[in-house]
Amino acid sequence: MPSGRLLEDSKDFLKKIGINVKEPANRELISYENGYTFYFPRAFDVPVYVENGVDIGICGSDVVLERNNEVYIPLELPFGKCRISIILPENREISFQKMEGYKIATKYPEITKNFFSEKGLKVKILKLNGAVELAAKTGIADAIVDIVDTGNTIKANNLKEAYKIMDISAVLLVNRITQKTKFDFINDLINKAKNYKNGVK
Ligand code: PRP
Ligand code: MG
Repeated sequence: MPSGRLLEDSKDFLKKIGINVKEPANRELISYENGYTFYFPRAFDVPVYVENGVDIGICGSDVVLERNNEVYIPLELPFGKCRISIILPENREISFQKMEGYKIATKYPEITKNFFSEKGLKVKILKLNGAVELAAKTGIADAIVDIVDTGNTIKANNLKEAYKIMDISAVLLVNRITQKTKFDFINDLINKAKNYKNGVK
């Protein structure tokens, strides 16, 4: 289970396909319900758990791309929709020609590095762990690359979404061995998820 923003939608989604998630008591990180075991790592670590033996997981496609773990991703889920964008101070226009050598603050160094290197630009990446807008606001970075959902955070910090790098959504992750050894269970889960997704559209 992804702790944080995706948790409620993930629980609702699983409930709709017949899996009731129980949240752990107190500071515990595991819960048990109806024969299932639920783990509650940081959302950013979900692919690491799934690569290393946990059967299935849910997290954002941003996390999957950034962490690049060996997992099977059978489908996108119909929630957690947002985007990763280049964000600039309100009064600046985007010009890729001028971005060579830019300092870019982000939680997503891999996605950022790949995006700019595909454009043939070398940039300096400042890796932060959150509240990235502050780096643009204080001017310690020339731009930031971050998630935009409602746009409220950038607006509140006098920033603007200057260029969308990619759309993001929650995804289902399956362990590569589980996919083979528990094929029927996984297949059934994927079919239920697909039916639910088509109903939502
Ligand atoms: C995320 C993201 C943006 C904000 C976008 O941060 O990094 O800051 O949400 O949402 P909005 O467009 O609806 O305002 P979050 O507060 O989840 O955590 P973090 O900044 O600590 O990473
Ligand atoms: Mg934030």
